[in-house]
Amino acid sequence: MCGIVGYIGKKSACPILLSGLKRLEYRGYDSSGICVKTKFGLEYVKRKGRILELEDALSSKNFKNCFVGIAHTRWATHGEPTEVNAHPHFDSTGEIAIVHNGIIENYMTLKKMLIAEGIKFVSETDSEVLAHLISKFYEDCNLESAVVKALELVEGTFGLLVMSKTSEKLVAARRGSPLVVGIGEDEMFVSSDVSAILEYTRRVMYLNDDELVVFDAHSYAVKNLKGAVLGKKIHEIKWSIDQIEKGGYKHFMLKEIYEQPTAIENTLRGRIKDNKVWFDFNIDLFGIRRIIITACGTSWHSALIGKYYFERNCEIPVEVDYASEFRYRNPLVTENDLVIAISQSGETADTLAALREAKSKGAKTLGLVNVVGSTIAREVDYVVYLHAGPEIGVASTKAFTTQVIDLLLISLFFRQRLGKKVDSLVLEELQLLPEKVSLMLEQFEKTGTIKKLAEDFKKYSNALYLGRGMNFPVALEGALKLKEISYIHSEGYPAAEMKHGPIALIDKDMPVVFIAPQDHTYEKILSNMEEIKARGGEIIALIDENDSLVSHLTKNTISVMSSIEEISPILDVIPLQLLAYYIADSKGIDVDKPRNLAKSVTVE
Ligand code: F6R
Repeated sequence: MCGIVGYIGKKSACPILLSGLKRLEYRGYDSSGICVKTKFGLEYVKRKGRILELEDALSSKNFKNCFVGIAHTRWATHGEPTEVNAHPHFDSTGEIAIVHNGIIENYMTLKKMLIAEGIKFVSETDSEVLAHLISKFYEDCNLESAVVKALELVEGTFGLLVMSKTSEKLVAARRGSPLVVGIGEDEMFVSSDVSAILEYTRRVMYLNDDELVVFDAHSYAVKNLKGAVLGKKIHEIKWSIDQIEKGGYKHFMLKEIYEQPTAIENTLRGRIKDNKVWFDFNIDLFGIRRIIITACGTSWHSALIGKYYFERNCEIPVEVDYASEFRYRNPLVTENDLVIAISQSGETADTLAALREAKSKGAKTLGLVNVVGSTIAREVDYVVYLHAGPEIGVASTKAFTTQVIDLLLISLFFRQRLGKKVDSLVLEELQLLPEKVSLMLEQFEKTGTIKKLAEDFKKYSNALYLGRGMNFPVALEGALKLKEISYIHSEGYPAAEMKHGPIALIDKDMPVVFIAPQDHTYEKILSNMEEIKARGGEIIALIDENDSLVSHLTKNTISVMSSIEEISPILDVIPLQLLAYYIADSKGIDVDKPRNLAKSVTVE
């Protein structure tokens, strides 16, 4: 997820592009750049860091009389956040400039082809191939035709905006990454979302997948990629800028919960092909005696699920350690250990210190990180990026689900490398996830079940979350979500542990959330529910969509789509995220900024 802005018209382009980028900074903020057309050709400025750095650099440039330009704020996916990797990207002659959101899946193939034709690449990005490809097909100032020909070769997703030194027109195209076109008086705008251009116009058109728009300041044509002209509806925007940045959701957390189908799709992208799992790192697994997974908070919960995956799929013993504990107990780590550090931000101080401790003892290290180029990503031997997109809400949601998916994928990848067969049912179920999550979210929205439960349960001051097996960490995660944003004290336990102490707490003021999929522990969970009921406790139960028994024990059920055991933690956590969100919101708490918490914990 990055941000694109483009402008052509009678006003100076730079201030418009810059203010648009500032509005889009929530979509990506590791580097940015602007390109404008001057009398010398295409001139640009790029900077690593926040938009303010770019603004500073632009103050020494005289771009006042430039009336056309494109700009980008980046959330790195391929290549670290550096000035060279920042957009815009150019072809070798300086004729073509592009800004791109999305992922070009076959960029390596295209890059090899272009290098063989003598093209020199300057960045590590997948996006740069687009500039060279468009340049290859650019003839007679016909930018549209060059873009279409280039896109015919591309696999993957794009929100793309292209300008050239000699063409009077700009071209924008979309597949998978949103683009909106703003129509003004003798001026046109393009952006990844309307917040960037709303100050200037409220009349917009939304591009659909496989559509492009060719435009100058006075006219435009929307076409499909085969060249047919399309009639497009113009919308009048009534929302405020704040509403738009959050995609119409009240909070970033809710938006990020709803982004999970797309985040999961991006995490899975390119990983499953020909009934196999693909990663591009190569660890000698035969020398590995043990895997240690280390992390904090929500990431530690995904690590606990990872333990099940690795032990089941690789038959290698796994230990999961809080990073803060690991680093201070002089852990017995050797070069035969693989240490996996999980971190959304890639900057958590304790996880980083644990990683350094493991490295100093000779362990091999693998990072599972969302923020490209973050410290953990740079310091591990191997890194796998989540591709979940920026997570702004303090409570982690889409990072958790994508971490769990990556852990499952990596465990299957290791299984293959150890010469064992991968169960194709697991691969099929993984691929079904984006759709299942999307359907489930739709269903929750339609029935309003979770919102209603939240209203009933917000009066409590305590709650217990119980689950077994792979769903025990989901119970921990559900309890963490609730406590951190609603300030209701909540704890997660393995359901069977209840009898060993927590059952003493059960009375009418202690609601218990059960995660009760129909797996091999289902009967036991039912008995635990009976025990709670007998003591007057209120039950909320997450059940399989075809469950018929739990309704005899409680009317408070949330039905979750059926799947296999490995996938159920990913599906089960989503209603728990929503339950915590709706409880906190109905208590009037600022969900995105709960008290005492920060998004990235860079201190001990
Ligand atoms: C909870 C939450 C935190 C983080 C923890 C680790 O919702 O977000 O518990 O999971 O601070 O952060 P990362 O994953 O960035 O290392």
